[in-house]
Amino acid sequence: MPGDKSISHRSLILASLADGESRIRGILEADDIRSTAEVLRCLGVVIPALGADMKVNGVGLHGLRASRAPLNCGNSGTTSRLMAGVVAAHPFSTTFEGDASLSRRPMKRVAEPLTYMGARFDFERGDGLPMTVHGTDLRSIDWDTGGSSAQVKSAILLAGLVAGVEVRVTEKTRSRDHTERMLRAMGVDVENDRNQVCLRPTPRLTPIEMEVPADPSSAAFFIALASLAAEGELTLTKVGVNPTRSGFLQAMKRMGADISETVAGRRAGESTATLRVRPKELRGIRITEDEIPFLIDELPLIACVAAGAGIDLEITGAAELRVKESDRINSVVQNLQAVGAQAAELPDGLRVWGPRRDLSGTIDPRGDHRIAMAFGVARPATGGRVTRRKAVIAIDGPAASGKSSTAQMVAEKLGFLHVDSGSLYRAATAAMLRREKDASKWTEQSVLDAARPVDLRAARTSFYPVLEGRAIEDEIRGNDVTRHVSRVAQMPRVREWVNAKVREAADLKDVVVDGRDMGTVVFPDADLKIFLVADSRERALRRLRQRGTPASQELLDDETIRIKERDERDAKQTVPAADAVTIDTTGLNQGEQVEQIVGLSKQRAR
Ligand code: S3P
Repeated sequence: MPGDKSISHRSLILASLADGESRIRGILEADDIRSTAEVLRCLGVVIPALGADMKVNGVGLHGLRASRAPLNCGNSGTTSRLMAGVVAAHPFSTTFEGDASLSRRPMKRVAEPLTYMGARFDFERGDGLPMTVHGTDLRSIDWDTGGSSAQVKSAILLAGLVAGVEVRVTEKTRSRDHTERMLRAMGVDVENDRNQVCLRPTPRLTPIEMEVPADPSSAAFFIALASLAAEGELTLTKVGVNPTRSGFLQAMKRMGADISETVAGRRAGESTATLRVRPKELRGIRITEDEIPFLIDELPLIACVAAGAGIDLEITGAAELRVKESDRINSVVQNLQAVGAQAAELPDGLRVWGPRRDLSGTIDPRGDHRIAMAFGVARPATGGRVTRRKAVIAIDGPAASGKSSTAQMVAEKLGFLHVDSGSLYRAATAAMLRREKDASKWTEQSVLDAARPVDLRAARTSFYPVLEGRAIEDEIRGNDVTRHVSRVAQMPRVREWVNAKVREAADLKDVVVDGRDMGTVVFPDADLKIFLVADSRERALRRLRQRGTPASQELLDDETIRIKERDERDAKQTVPAADAVTIDTTGLNQGEQVEQIVGLSKQRAR
């Protein structure tokens, strides 16, 4: 199993603040941890690329420098909240940013105690990122969080550590205590007493040599699969079994799961175990407030296990789920209903009930990794087919409106893949030309037959057509293809074939698609629909430029007429979807068009 995420964040942060070289083995190599590494780099720590065995040279408790740029925490709540505590005790200002999901999540819960300690905070928008922390000498604090959050607790502990002041934090129930355990292993006087923790000043942090235990929250998905399986046995080694993280194992055991634990050893103050899981019939359970902190991240999974097994489940006291990477109460229940399970929301939890059904359908994980993974368990559990809904941006518009090049650039900016439907019409034409040079003999059926061995293949930023497994990019841009492609594109069954191929691609990846009908016929439920327009003279000018032809007045007039004629012919097909955003690009350069679309897409994702 991969390394524990919570412990990986802390290992990088504490190693950076230590005096000298620490060694970390088995760190989780994932984007959230890369965010923490990058934030620490911006603050002046030399952190190597994440790897199985890495060394970090700490700069000491007062060695961080102000960052020149805002710190981008990506999707990671732990990065932003823990690092807010660290920089609050440094004599400079730091701005934190994050992706759309993180920017929605509450930050005042850390700002409040840190403000009480003496730091100042600026928020640009409500309670979320961007947030600027003005650090200073902090004073001691005795804080009752009123809830149970390891991120808030750790922010206060880290602020006290750097400021050299005593801090005490009281929680409703003790949240995960990895920070405390690691601090103790690095020579700090930290004492846990039930739901209270007290940190006393220390002049320095001793470097650490540690192995990160396997992540129990990742192990949970496989434990669930093995419990729901028909046969077999699963063994997982070196899994962290810290009692503040073991709620999932306890809940599964209450459901009747067959899980045995053999304690294996200790790593960085944490116990690890070998787990053995065998399939077993499960029974319904109730999960209440007092145990929520110990399985908070596993609750979506437990709901999917219950739905997969067809048992009753009630979760209460878990309102915190509403402010995770998505509103996890709402996203779990809506997606369970979408695949045919019986589930209902409660204000602070949810209910799932039987009987067992085959779960099939498409879920929308709302960009939340734990939702996507939880539903990965529902599918094999019931033999149904659960797919993830991918994002689709559809770009349409009249001839020469710049659809294709704009779509390609938007895809690159967003990390999506571009699907150029035009390249499929060209590929079908090229395949037909290989069979029959004389286009007067072509029929719709013969073109369809010729197109059958054409497929789309995913590259880094786009899908491209292949014929019998070979790339045909040069062939489809040739003059012969250009001459005949518009006739092929008029054939209704060829259009259906192209649309089906484009939809298949969009089942696999987040895509930007461009071409006729994309926002209307092909993806009526696209996440964002753009209709690009530009006046005919401007488009004529772009066409000439594209061909490298110098634009004399006469040529421009001719091309404008041609474009207008084409517009008339296309008028029936090229209508914007009712919910499309029309962008007039006449006065815009390409970079500006792309920025507008990327901006709209990010707004929609919020
Ligand atoms: C984490 C604490 C928890 C947990 C999150 C990781 C940590 O969040 O949900 O995935 O590493 O401290 P809260 O502190 O907000 O409960």
